[in-house]
Amino acid sequence: MVYGVILAGGIGSRMGGDKPKQYLTVKGKPIIIYTIEKFFAVPELKKIIVLCPRQWVEHTKNLIEKHIAPAKERIAVIEGGETRNETIMNAIDFIEKEGNLNDDTIIVTHDSVRPFVTNRIIEENIQFAKEYGACDTVVPATDTIVEAQDNKVISAIPDRSKMYQGQTPQSFNALKLKNIYNALTDEEKDILTDAAKIFVMKGEKVALVQGETYNMKITYPYDLRVAKSLLEDEEND
Ligand code: CTP
Repeated sequence: MVYGVILAGGIGSRMGGDKPKQYLTVKGKPIIIYTIEKFFAVPELKKIIVLCPRQWVEHTKNLIEKHIAPAKERIAVIEGGETRNETIMNAIDFIEKEGNLNDDTIIVTHDSVRPFVTNRIIEENIQFAKEYGACDTVVPATDTIVEAQDNKVISAIPDRSKMYQGQTPQSFNALKLKNIYNALTDEEKDILTDAAKIFVMKGEKVALVQGETYNMKITYPYDLRVAKSLLEDEEND
């Protein structure tokens, strides 16, 4: 079974304001709803798990009821975790409690604040996660990437043609992710903030899915301004 996992457990500290950025409204609809709608439109995602801070669970359920009315059976809203990876693990625990965690379970994990994900990106994630066990959505780096080990002077300038910027979705064989994550030490868990990196560090293959520049993440107030105009364009199409 393939699950959509919408990660909305963060508080959006870089955005500021009185509510997490995924609840900010554009044209009468919260960003998180635009994102859920993209997942809802993919029939292979039999269930979509939305994970948010505990105090936002009821509100999120109400928003889904209001905007995606016939969704109740297919969408579950539960509490996220302390870190992004813990939020993903809460989703896997939920799947296990439903009795659906087995060798074929795939999770397509996605930032709630990337409302521009496309059908093609989600479908390729499902296909590649089935084929490889894990995949990550990326775009070729446009700027040259400069490494500075001491954060003061350049230590390396890698060949740009081999560099990519990570986006989401990141999709995984859920059982494999759970087993690898549970075998990590607490220190490793602290360092491995990216779920795909957990696989890479353990020598597991992670396939690349071609993303889109358009599939931006809303992090800062500037991103919100860009996203607003893009969402308004989308609504007018
Ligand atoms: N996220 C999550 N659980 C956490 C932390 C983050 O599900 N414990 C989610 C966020 O809600 C967001 C996505 O992961 O949709 C990407 O994270 P980021 O943009 O860093 O969001 P925040 O953690 O909310 O932002 P900030 O780092 O500015 O506080």
